[in-house]
Amino acid sequence: MPVNQEKSAKVLLKMWRPFLLFLLVTFVAAQVHIKVAAPENFDDDDEETDSVPVQVVPLQRNERTNPCYLKRCGRGEECILDENINAKCVCIRECEDELDERFRVCSVRNETFASECHLDRAKCLCKNGDHECKHSSPKKLRLDYYGACKEMTSCEDWELKQFPGRMRDWTFVVMKEMARRNELGDYLELLRTANADDHHTDAVIWKFCNLDVRPQDRHVSRRELLMVIATIKPLEHCLVPFLNKCDDNSDHTITLDEWGTCLELDQGHLADKCEAIHNRAKRT
Ligand SMILES: *[C@@H]1O[C@H](CO)[C@@H](O)[C@H](O)[C@H]1NC(C)=O
Repeated sequence: MPVNQEKSAKVLLKMWRPFLLFLLVTFVAAQVHIKVAAPENFDDDDEETDSVPVQVVPLQRNERTNPCYLKRCGRGEECILDENINAKCVCIRECEDELDERFRVCSVRNETFASECHLDRAKCLCKNGDHECKHSSPKKLRLDYYGACKEMTSCEDWELKQFPGRMRDWTFVVMKEMARRNELGDYLELLRTANADDHHTDAVIWKFCNLDVRPQDRHVSRRELLMVIATIKPLEHCLVPFLNKCDDNSDHTITLDEWGTCLELDQGHLADKCEAIHNRAKRT
């Protein structure tokens, strides 16, 4: 019955409210995470994260003379000195025992690891054909989301229908939160216009431009979304179906037009505003 359906939708919306706030906080946290984790030179768009260079802090005194000082190792690796005192990257020998459940991560094969370090290490071992490797392929050892693996309920059609509206409201809330923290910079003006508009169009555009960072090419790649997905997916079961829907032509990137369409915005001004944001961002 439609009346019942409407009622239960309202109840669900109420339940979502605190949870939305939670999302917001994790999202802002995820952005910080992106700043820290993302390397300068993202050049390929594939979904793998292995090529991400990670600065490994070397081990000994006399740091500057230690050959490991300048050595950069990949994800899941650390630098050691070989017998000729040359710097050498090897798989992390031991990850810290992580008892705190909040550090757990879930791989794309629904396997829980104690921490991201444990997952990266396992992947490194398998890539190098180490006998300690317990998996048939390193591909199975990709991060899916933060937190222990859990049962993911499917996103119902009616939830997916509501999602664009929630996402628009949510980007607006995130924007306000960033402003409150003085992290919005030159985008304050857009916050003002977003405020004056029921659809929060400019907040949605800001979010797109904000996601499209490496490179800033008006295409949001899977890679650019990885961290956001890893953080939010376990809390929001409609996120991935929604993003898949946004990628209308399934080319693994979302254009501003696609973004605007799936968030149900008027196409008219989209491109122009994003360019303005980019230019303004460059000037600062
Ligand atoms: C993934 O693992 C969790 C926890 O072990 C389990 O509850 C869930 O059903 C699994 N999901 C799939 C798709 O196998």
